[in-house]
Amino acid sequence: MEKKRIVSGMRPTGKLHLGHIHGALNNWKALQEDYQCFYFIADWHALTSEYEHPEIIKQSTEDIIIDWISIGLDPEKSVFFVQSSIKEHAELFLIFSMFTPLPWLERNPTYKEQLQELTKRDIYTYGFLGYPVLQAADILMYKANGVPVGQDQSPHVELTREIARRFNHLYSDIFPVPEVLLTPEAKILGIDRRKMSKGYNNAIFLSDTEVTVNKKVSEMITDPQRARKSDPGRPSFCNVFTFHELYSKKDNVQEIKEGCLSASIGCVECKRLMAESLNKALEPLREKRQEIQSKTGLIDDIINEGNKRAGEIAKNTLKEVREVVKI
Ligand code: TRP
Ligand code: SF4
Repeated sequence: MEKKRIVSGMRPTGKLHLGHIHGALNNWKALQEDYQCFYFIADWHALTSEYEHPEIIKQSTEDIIIDWISIGLDPEKSVFFVQSSIKEHAELFLIFSMFTPLPWLERNPTYKEQLQELTKRDIYTYGFLGYPVLQAADILMYKANGVPVGQDQSPHVELTREIARRFNHLYSDIFPVPEVLLTPEAKILGIDRRKMSKGYNNAIFLSDTEVTVNKKVSEMITDPQRARKSDPGRPSFCNVFTFHELYSKKDNVQEIKEGCLSASIGCVECKRLMAESLNKALEPLREKRQEIQSKTGLIDDIINEGNKRAGEIAKNTLKEVREVVKI
């Protein structure tokens, strides 16, 4: 039987950090074993918020593909492509926009939230309102059965489902209605205990060197109630401990927990141990990154190959769409 199909994308607005691994990429990696996966760079989507500073988009496109491969996404198993290279996305977006009712877009909670939050940019634009319609085109183009996304994106995928149903009802039943495959939120926070984000300047990047990781870890905020080393700490309120749970050996995690609770280990030592575990986990990524970067043209080749495979499917879908829309 044909494998079921997965589509997901990332906006190229900077290199990836640990939040992306735990909030998306580990899941993407697991999925590529059982599904036919299409992972793409949503550069047109990035333009909705970065239209004043589009330089970041191209650079991040390459950075992100390198990040993907370094954690074990495999271009032999999955198709990596760039949205703007497949012009059919724009055509499908246009057709969908003809029958997508405005209120569906205006009441989208993610849209309303972002209008309030992204105050530094003017995103009161036609393109930004239509963001989920473009996303629907990305997903339905490949007739995806599932879309792995975080909670914040689930209203968008719900809209994709509505758009698929409306298209099927108006014209012809050609689109499967895709499932939302919800990825749990990453438990780890940034080094300042806020959500890890490039914009907050609190992220540990996949591409950080050992020295940088050590420095960032040493700056991490721990249990805010533990003022002195002689005070017992509360691992369950400490972000450093969350990192230990993810990156240190089980026995050591237990020891650290007890040490923290009984004040026999200090935060400086605890962080040093954590940085060691984290660096150990990042080492294979660093090696892979070096290997990729030593092969000139490799990323371009991977993108070209992925674009070709995605492009063939997109061409077929549009042919079918034009037929049933009678245009
Ligand atoms: N909106 C998604 C995000 O910001 C990116 C995206 C664009 C996407 N098109 C998609 C995700 C299609 C899944 C499927 O994370
Ligand atoms: Fe956090 Fe470790 Fe300090 Fe405990 S000892 S508060 S777990 S950094």
